[in-house]
Amino acid sequence: MVTKAYHIETYGCQMNVHDSEKIAGALHTLGYVQAKDAFSADVIVFNTCCIRDTAEKKILGNIGDLKHIKTHRPDVIIAIVGCMTQQKGIAEQLVKKFPFIDIILGTSNANEIADKVNEIVASRAQRRHRVVVIPRMEKPAINENEPVFRTSGTNAWVNIIYGCNNFCTYCIVPFVRGRERSRAPDVIIEEIKGLLGQGYKEITLLGQNVNSYGSDRTDGSNFAKLLAEIGQLPGKFRLRFMTSHPKDFTSEVIDVIAAFPNICNNIHLPVQSGSNAVLKAMNRKYTREKYLDIIRMIRLKMPDCGITSDIMVGFPGETDDDFRDTLALVKEVRFSNAFTFVYSPRKGTYAATLDQVPHEIKKERITELVSVQNEITKELSEQYVGGTFEVLAEDAPKENLLCGRTESGRLVSFNGPSEYVGQFLQIKVTKAKASALFGEIINGKQCE
Ligand code: 5AD
Ligand code: SF4
Repeated sequence: MVTKAYHIETYGCQMNVHDSEKIAGALHTLGYVQAKDAFSADVIVFNTCCIRDTAEKKILGNIGDLKHIKTHRPDVIIAIVGCMTQQKGIAEQLVKKFPFIDIILGTSNANEIADKVNEIVASRAQRRHRVVVIPRMEKPAINENEPVFRTSGTNAWVNIIYGCNNFCTYCIVPFVRGRERSRAPDVIIEEIKGLLGQGYKEITLLGQNVNSYGSDRTDGSNFAKLLAEIGQLPGKFRLRFMTSHPKDFTSEVIDVIAAFPNICNNIHLPVQSGSNAVLKAMNRKYTREKYLDIIRMIRLKMPDCGITSDIMVGFPGETDDDFRDTLALVKEVRFSNAFTFVYSPRKGTYAATLDQVPHEIKKERITELVSVQNEITKELSEQYVGGTFEVLAEDAPKENLLCGRTESGRLVSFNGPSEYVGQFLQIKVTKAKASALFGEIINGKQCE
């Protein structure tokens, strides 16, 4: 029997990366293996994103390119799943524009891909068959015990909460991922114990807003308790989590991170804007002052904590003064790194109905913001030079070249054999270049 192969193209955030691992897991149960590329695959899956217009445009262009493959190999099965398809009316548009698509699934049922592939294969002999299933539930059930084909090396992603209740006025996520559903704490702990038993050295907890973990449950669970429970698990491993929302970030969480050596002193805390007027219009439910208080609290307990952020420019109504407030906040906090975005109107969100900031102004603001943050990142990088840090060797991109992260989340490259991947090493940083750090192993291998 000829082995069949699949190719998954993943767009967007870590949540999607992990969802793709579950899609791959489902296809493996059918006996499919990973293909070298889309051209040699029997099933091609696009796991899509719709957070910004740029993401969507790119995906639509790439779906268009699949026509070429389908023309040469009509039996190839093409599936489009994830956030983009979950938007109102999009599945219908995709079918019309790209009639060669075989399967369209949403965000909560992408795991049904194996059944749908079987359905298509079984019906092939009779006629052209297409499957489109977009669930419209606000709170789709959590699928536990799904097969996962992990692709992230030493790190394993673990979902703790799905969906989002916040409805930031710019954001499409609550519309495509439904309301918050927290997994049971014992199920999470069991999954993590299993992963540590398999040898994973880093666990990253995933959620659109990890800090509201447990608020939809009746067992009293919350994020601080969950972190503490995981932090107590035996063995040497690192625990990370993303994404945190400032409105739900508690001092208990900071205390737990500080108390457990396994929990990395590294927090991704999107601020979005430094202007109170813009934060209010975004429905973020915190002020600039509250955000700065949290930063102070974190730094008091963990002076070396790496703090990263998401920052947006050009939200409707953002004035030059508002933008200056964002720049001032960036200079005050000195994020170790920041993801910077130009606001992009998303159909169905409130902010898309407001008067928009002209494109030229958005462009000027993003250029200035990026240059200010780059300068800060560079200065902070230089402070690492000469210091020795514990680094988890995560990957070997070239022969005798390894890379990994410090606890604070900074990427370091250094020479070493690929057998060291998965080991905790003591690395002396010798050089910094923009956000990249370079170093050398000292002391051989460190504790296991
Ligand atoms: N336009 C630009 N950036 C956005 N983000 C979310 N929605 C939009 C949008 N409509 C950014 C936010 C969020 C990150 C994941 O993407 O900064 O934190
Ligand atoms: Fe979007 Fe806000 Fe929810 Fe984050 S918290 S996913 S930005 S609505």
